[in-house]
Amino acid sequence: MPVENKKYYIKTFGCQMNERDSEIMSQSLLRNGYVAGSDIELADCVIVNTCSIRGKAEQKALSLLGYLRKIKDSRPGMKIVVAGCVAQQEAQSLVERMPYVDLVVGTQHIYDIPQFLLGLEDGGTHIQTDLESDYTIPRFLPAVPSPSLPEETQPFNEFQFSRFVTIMQGCNNYCTYCVVPYTRGREVSRLASHILEEARLLVASGVKEITLLGQNVNSYGKTNTVSADGGPYFFADLLREVSEIEGLQRLRFTTSNPKDLTDELMSCFRDIENLCPHFHLPVQSGSNAVLQAMNRRYTVEQYLEKVNTLHKYCPSIAISTDIIVGFPGESDDDFEKTMELLETVRYHGSFSFKYSDRPGTRSQNFTGKVKEEVKSERLSHFQARQNAISLERNREYLGKIQKILVEKIFPDSIKGRTGSNHVVHLPYRDKVSLGDLLDVKITFAGKQSLKAIFTSGR
Ligand code: SAH
Ligand code: SF4
Ligand code: F3S
Repeated sequence: MPVENKKYYIKTFGCQMNERDSEIMSQSLLRNGYVAGSDIELADCVIVNTCSIRGKAEQKALSLLGYLRKIKDSRPGMKIVVAGCVAQQEAQSLVERMPYVDLVVGTQHIYDIPQFLLGLEDGGTHIQTDLESDYTIPRFLPAVPSPSLPEETQPFNEFQFSRFVTIMQGCNNYCTYCVVPYTRGREVSRLASHILEEARLLVASGVKEITLLGQNVNSYGKTNTVSADGGPYFFADLLREVSEIEGLQRLRFTTSNPKDLTDELMSCFRDIENLCPHFHLPVQSGSNAVLQAMNRRYTVEQYLEKVNTLHKYCPSIAISTDIIVGFPGESDDDFEKTMELLETVRYHGSFSFKYSDRPGTRSQNFTGKVKEEVKSERLSHFQARQNAISLERNREYLGKIQKILVEKIFPDSIKGRTGSNHVVHLPYRDKVSLGDLLDVKITFAGKQSLKAIFTSGR
């Protein structure tokens, strides 16, 4: 029996996969009679969608749960749900520390939350965290607005014109520092026909930009058969087919492990017109010794060769990366090599993190742990140099005409994004709508974003 008008509130931590999962949880709650609440303190059901990738990410979710305890004390009817990667990995210890949590759902059970909520008994916590290792078609809810719901209750209250489409789940790579293979299970690719159907529906409903999601999209189609005829079908094939959807303006994807990046995939940046000229290609370290200890299975030389090939196929491509500093055993010399790599590639941007021990990972037991203050020093050194390079890179766009997708309209300004994934701010102008694709001229470059004016005619 559907629930009437109970309010839910979801707080999301972590990556785009978690963001998409939060949409899925919203979708299934809305279908079961819940409505979206705008105030966490007044919600009947709060879902904390957690991330476990680094200690800090986990801490943030745990402190929100501490705060929710106080609210629940004064509103005992409130249900607290913990989902996401911390829920998957640490359900038991969570419940011991936080017995007031009503439901803990692992990454593969987010679809069933309304049913679990109905079955909850007073007191005690229901836990559902099995990782189903034997199924080959992950369950997905389509990323499309539900036509039967009124607009104000749609789960997609963020920017409507750009949507994520999940193409695979899990990861088989076992980088030694990473929890994802344990929190998301084995790598499984979604059927190509399902992805295409979802992407077509999205474009037909007005979506301009699609980002294909997976922890390692480069290995799409390698672990299970994805094509209807049972023949070989890989990520480049999928990219080509999605890109051909009539009306799709922009196509992106994330994330890629460099070891699986093929020439065929790189050539898509030359051949596919609506594939955005941006590649997030996490390298993690510039030292071969560290890369080997991380089990990344590529060398710096192989990585650089791929960067060169990408530039050859698409001279305007903007490359960004992820860096871990202070991996166990990382010497000053190893870190220097990361700095050298930064100077060689001159990344447009990067996300850089201090290494953090995570439960269940192999590196947790490695020797040669780097001191906290050394990690902090290396991180700020790296970030200072990256900021300077980002500024230089951004200045390369000065005076150039770029196409932007309008993402937000403020009373006095407009925010858009280039194909190269640069945020652009413009002065306000009427008759501009969300989702418009406009030509603008870049007039100012900061380290985080660009400023522009409209080109004549608009
Ligand atoms: N699938 C992506 C990475 C996803 S996790 C890939 O293979 O590149 C996002 C980023 O978090 C990683 O690229 C890494 O830089 C960082 N990260 C993962 N585990 C970490 C840890 N234990 N400590 C610090 N950073 C970590
Ligand atoms: Fe983690 Fe490595 Fe898989 Fe990326 S490829 S999710 S870093 S195990
Ligand atoms: Fe975090 Fe899980 Fe994503 S650990 S980065 S939410 S896959």
